[in-house]
Amino acid sequence: MTDLDLIKSKIDVVELIGQYIPLKKAGRNYKGTCPFHSEKTPSFMVSPDKQIWHCFGCGKGGDAFRFLMEKEGLEFTEALSQLAEKAGVQLQSRSSGEWGSKNVLFNINELAAKFYEKAIADSTEGRQALNYLVSRGLSRETAKTFRIGYAPSGWDYLIKFLERRGYKLEDIEKAGLLVQRARGYSDKFHHRLMFPITNASGKVVGFTGRVLNPEDQPKYLNSPETAIFSKGRILYGLSATKEDIQAQNYAVLVEGQMDLLSSYQAGIKNVVASSGTALTLDQLKLIRRYGEALVLALDADAAGGEATKRAIELAATDDLNIKVAILGQYKDPDDCIKAGADVWRQIVESAIPVIDFYLDHSINKFGVDTVAGKKKVAAEVLSVISLLIDPVEKDQYIKKLAGRLSTSTDSLYEAMSRLKAPRSTAKTEEKPASPDKDPDWLNKRVLGIILYRPAYYPDFRERLGQVRWREWSERVYEKLANCYSKSEFSLDDLLASLAYDDRVALLELLMVIEEQYADMAEADLKGELNFYINLIQRRQVKQTLARLKAEVSAAEQAGDQEKLSILLEQFKHL
Ligand code: UTP
Ligand code: MN
Repeated sequence: MTDLDLIKSKIDVVELIGQYIPLKKAGRNYKGTCPFHSEKTPSFMVSPDKQIWHCFGCGKGGDAFRFLMEKEGLEFTEALSQLAEKAGVQLQSRSSGEWGSKNVLFNINELAAKFYEKAIADSTEGRQALNYLVSRGLSRETAKTFRIGYAPSGWDYLIKFLERRGYKLEDIEKAGLLVQRARGYSDKFHHRLMFPITNASGKVVGFTGRVLNPEDQPKYLNSPETAIFSKGRILYGLSATKEDIQAQNYAVLVEGQMDLLSSYQAGIKNVVASSGTALTLDQLKLIRRYGEALVLALDADAAGGEATKRAIELAATDDLNIKVAILGQYKDPDDCIKAGADVWRQIVESAIPVIDFYLDHSINKFGVDTVAGKKKVAAEVLSVISLLIDPVEKDQYIKKLAGRLSTSTDSLYEAMSRLKAPRSTAKTEEKPASPDKDPDWLNKRVLGIILYRPAYYPDFRERLGQVRWREWSERVYEKLANCYSKSEFSLDDLLASLAYDDRVALLELLMVIEEQYADMAEADLKGELNFYINLIQRRQVKQTLARLKAEVSAAEQAGDQEKLSILLEQFKHL
């Protein structure tokens, strides 16, 4: 038995999830309101016999590990070690290997945070640093909540401190807290106000240090990328604010640490900071775990730039609703909050949908009094509208743009069709199974019904053999057919033959099917299977037809008679 199986055998997913949300027995499963999206009627189900959960509303699902990863924002290895502890299982790889060495880096960063916290409270220079914070309007309480500290101005105080606790120079360097110098090495941070950066579960993974002496450069210095810290995958403040984001179902994104702290202190706590870097898709996905909407409150000079475009790109492929807060005369949120918490709240609450923002922004920039201006506005705004997936929304914005440019929607549609296809990194990412987005969903449904009623298989064997399976369904179908060729079919054998992820996905699929077809009469269920296989066949014929047509017209243009007669032959056989 692997560590993973051992842990799973000792953890009950119903009990685990029951610690986060109330679950009620409903038939053979348990039901509750989904912790991953907001809903009033419960569509979140947990199966005690399969040890699987699935939300029929948002499509998320998986096993105990997946739940902890989603809920606490953990990496797989972190979820593994948490559940191992709970189950009383000693992980073989804990003290060595990759996970072991990551643990050392977590420990070093945590100790460093404690060291800086002590220095801000206990040293003269530290107290001056705290006074600086207070002079900028932050309270001691806020400083405590975010564990703000002070890095002393000596040469290697932190390194010495860590060495006394048994850590090796090599590991301190790997943790990003030691730098090599011409004549040896030194602490990475000197005489700076220290902001610990935590991952979503609250572990310190690195630091940002702000200068106290205005002559020092750079103003903000960050830990380097390490095995546990990757700038593009972290949002400053998230571990402290994720519950507020979840409760409000949206996050406010600001650029700077000071912006975040001021906002938090002013009572707008559902906030995260990108720390001045270009926003990444990983960061947006992280936000999407906790809320359905995002208000961008970037510094006035950055709004309308790359970060905003990136955000829309994700909004279009995932369903994150993006708005832009207009800061007006204020240079950044921190500056605005100085004018009053109410001013800031008002600005956040009157954020406008990102496309409307672009429309105004472009018109301001290029003007619509000249043809040249109109063309530029159209090009910029259309490039953003074209990212939208929902045709109704698209149409609505095209109409709006046409109105503002006094032109026809037809010409805008034409202009849009001539735009280059937008580059999107989000599209290739894996998506949870949901009927309208997963191209494999028809195939999955058919497989699910067959596995729900294995006795149907012989009657459908031949037609199933003609289905064009893909990726996941192909792997599972192959194993399924294999299991049938051996005497009696057993679901356990099938599950045992699958890779771990495929197995979890299959159990989840079975849970969905069982829930949906529990009340259906046997005869109707067979009809249902028939219906879906017909649908798949019709789609396949359609696709083949379209391909043949394209090939025929290509052959006609090329005058390739031989090819034409082969193609026509294929037509007849459809
Ligand atoms: P800003 O220059 O706008 O700083 O950079 P700020 O947030 O207003 O900071 P204060 O008010 O002067 O203290 C925005 C963010 O960009 C990152 C920091 O995260 C900063 O909060 N940054 C800035 C760096 O990483 N390095 C720098 O040298 C400057
Ligand atoms: Mn700023």
